[in-house]
Amino acid sequence: MTPLNARSIAIVGGDGIGPEVTAQGRRILALVAEKRSLPMKLMDVDYGSDAYKKHGRLLPQSTRVAMSEADAILFGATGGPAFDAIPAPVRKAESLLAVRRDFDLFANLRPVKTMPALYEASSLKRRVLDGVDMVIVRELLGGVYFGEPRGIETLPDGERRGVNTHAYTASQIRRVARAAFDLARTRRGRVCSVAKENVMEAGRLWREEVQSVHDAEYADVELSHMLADNCAMQLVRAPAQFDVIVTDNLFGDILSDCAAMATGSLGMLPSASLGPFQKSERRAALYEPVHGSAPDIAGKGLANPVGSILSVAMMFRFSLGLPAEADLIERAISDALVSGARTADIANGGKHVSTEDMGDVVVSKLTSLLT
Ligand code: IPM
Ligand code: MG
Repeated sequence: MTPLNARSIAIVGGDGIGPEVTAQGRRILALVAEKRSLPMKLMDVDYGSDAYKKHGRLLPQSTRVAMSEADAILFGATGGPAFDAIPAPVRKAESLLAVRRDFDLFANLRPVKTMPALYEASSLKRRVLDGVDMVIVRELLGGVYFGEPRGIETLPDGERRGVNTHAYTASQIRRVARAAFDLARTRRGRVCSVAKENVMEAGRLWREEVQSVHDAEYADVELSHMLADNCAMQLVRAPAQFDVIVTDNLFGDILSDCAAMATGSLGMLPSASLGPFQKSERRAALYEPVHGSAPDIAGKGLANPVGSILSVAMMFRFSLGLPAEADLIERAISDALVSGARTADIANGGKHVSTEDMGDVVVSKLTSLLT
């Protein structure tokens, strides 16, 4: 019997390398639950192209129910060649973007923190990697990802035209700005808001609204503004200057991949996608590595599980209210890397271990830290 006060977690491996990295994240979750005697219910559910083969749905109803009942979702990855055969309406209604929208997951937190053990794996010089510790807060439900009208049309003269709409309302901007300011208060107290107000009206609104939330509610936090193109350059020139970056959906997507290189690999990056707080203080939350499904290496044991394991650490911090356990998971990763364990993406062509072996090393380091 699951105890009544058990925290429930939906485990959604998904496509490509999703299942194999999520299996390692799951082990870490189960290990902490066991060592700390935390009642926890882990619900493994189908999502993606396998679910489509089995149920004719990417997101079966049972999965949707489990995800909405859960205190948190651990997600693997989505997408890949099998998606080409899935009808567009199903893809549209049941994609990860639809999940983000349906659960109102508006704030996407992507921490980027360097570790000396991996400086060699980064394309950047050691001297710029020291002290890099930032979080990119990406607005997840607005901008071109969801804007209407959108589509590909044929003009009267036969020319084809692709259309997307970049639009933001003040309230969309204000709520993600608050998420960024709140986060900054728990860190070094600095927010850099990134937009392109020199060309885009929605960017001008972005800057004005972030500034107004700041002035009215967060005067204790230091706010600066930066143009998105300059930010891309600053992320490789001097990434240590940033504490919290807050930006729109598309800029956040691009800038977070760019920033990832400081850590040595996109495989290292975790994320949390958070909804608004409900009256019960509960909030919908989905944790996933940033790397995506990587179908070319799926099933080969080559994937780096660190992004998934660090996503579990974020879950302990943001959904389970156990920041000390989150710290220990991060320590265990750092200890594993210091001991020399490397998956292929961070091995610089040298000796590397499999996804599962990497999980073994982290489990063993964490076991000593938890006892
Ligand atoms: C990400 C991914 C997704 C995005 C894709 C898979 C739709 O790149 O989470 O960064 O663009 O949001
Ligand atoms: Mg991306």
